[in-house]
Amino acid sequence: MTYDKKLIIGLFGFGVVGEGIYRVLKQTPTLQAEIKRICIKHPDKKRNAPAELFTTDADELLNDPEINVVVELIDDAEAAWHIVSTSLGSGKAVVSANKKMIAAHIAELLKLQDDNKTSFLYEAAVCGSIPVIRNLEEYYDNDMLNSVTGIINGSTNYILTRMNEDGMAYGDALKLAQELGFAESDPTLDVQGIDAANKLTIILNHAYGIISAPDDILCKGITQLHPADSVYAREKGYSIKLVARARRVSHTDVAAYVLPTFVGPRSQLFNVRFEFNGVIIGTRLADEQFIYGKGAGRYPTSSAVLSDIAALRYGYKYEYKKLHTGVDYQVSDDHVLRVYVSCENMADIDRLDFVSIDETFISQTRKYITGSISFNKLRNASWLNNPANSVIVFEDPGVAGNPEMEELI
Ligand code: HSE
Repeated sequence: MTYDKKLIIGLFGFGVVGEGIYRVLKQTPTLQAEIKRICIKHPDKKRNAPAELFTTDADELLNDPEINVVVELIDDAEAAWHIVSTSLGSGKAVVSANKKMIAAHIAELLKLQDDNKTSFLYEAAVCGSIPVIRNLEEYYDNDMLNSVTGIINGSTNYILTRMNEDGMAYGDALKLAQELGFAESDPTLDVQGIDAANKLTIILNHAYGIISAPDDILCKGITQLHPADSVYAREKGYSIKLVARARRVSHTDVAAYVLPTFVGPRSQLFNVRFEFNGVIIGTRLADEQFIYGKGAGRYPTSSAVLSDIAALRYGYKYEYKKLHTGVDYQVSDDHVLRVYVSCENMADIDRLDFVSIDETFISQTRKYITGSISFNKLRNASWLNNPANSVIVFEDPGVAGNPEMEELI
């Protein structure tokens, strides 16, 4: 193994993270990684780097044989796909943070890496600075995973924290998340849970070898939450978090969803606040482990990009070990969730959709039902997408008492 490979980088994008990695690389000369050229979309913007580095012509980078690493940090997923697929196709190694593009093209990206025997690394695409993918690939490659549960979108966590702890209005909190560089340029991706669903799609691949599409994942964001939901949460001692969850529900089936969730104080996720992310990995042998860190922002995201660039010096590649375990996991709707549904009109909610109802509450301002519902019914419920209704999941019990542990004993 050699560490003396010189990396000549073509950088796409000079936004929050692009400029961050430019600055970081300048301060890390020992890495032997040099940015040769930077491709940008808007040449008239003032840039904090020498003008001669910049071009608007992607081909100058893509066709430059001296550039052996492409770092793709733009937010246009279609343009990113062109850049990444062309670069991999010509044998360049690629580092990307584009979760939307990666989630949409997992199967093709696997083939491109195989065909061209080159590395494609994207730690920054999932949970910013937290090394989730590298851990799933390298550390949890033998121990069977029962679940991966996390707060994996920094913007929504920032907004919920500001609203619940500082009483800030939703619009103001969102604006702040945008100003701080946490939010996507189209923030509906954050607040509707789509960004988290893209990241969960990538996690499903590295945790279970599942090649799925973001559309396979039921995702609701935070836009339908009602102030009365926070009152309910406070009364019961919960915090409302946008949680992404993948959980093994049988030997081959995995439940996968992104939903607002009541998190209790005993959960590690309870104290994950602001733009921080946290991921609980439930495994057969190790039981529960928790990784925590900043999930968005210039330097936290740059740290993951830097780590990927550094790994290219010794030719690191994801091996996608979970694709070769011999178990064909698939996303399944065949499981039951315990939920809270609040609404303006009780008549909107079809009570027959529920397996069982625990509680019904009616006041002049807000009504709610708590109970158990099959995931399939919830996904197809006509009332789910009505903006007047909100759905919040009660945390499910996690790995405690899982049958596999008993089998082992
Ligand atoms: N908009 C994303 C977030 C950025 O808020 O988590 C990091 O992926």
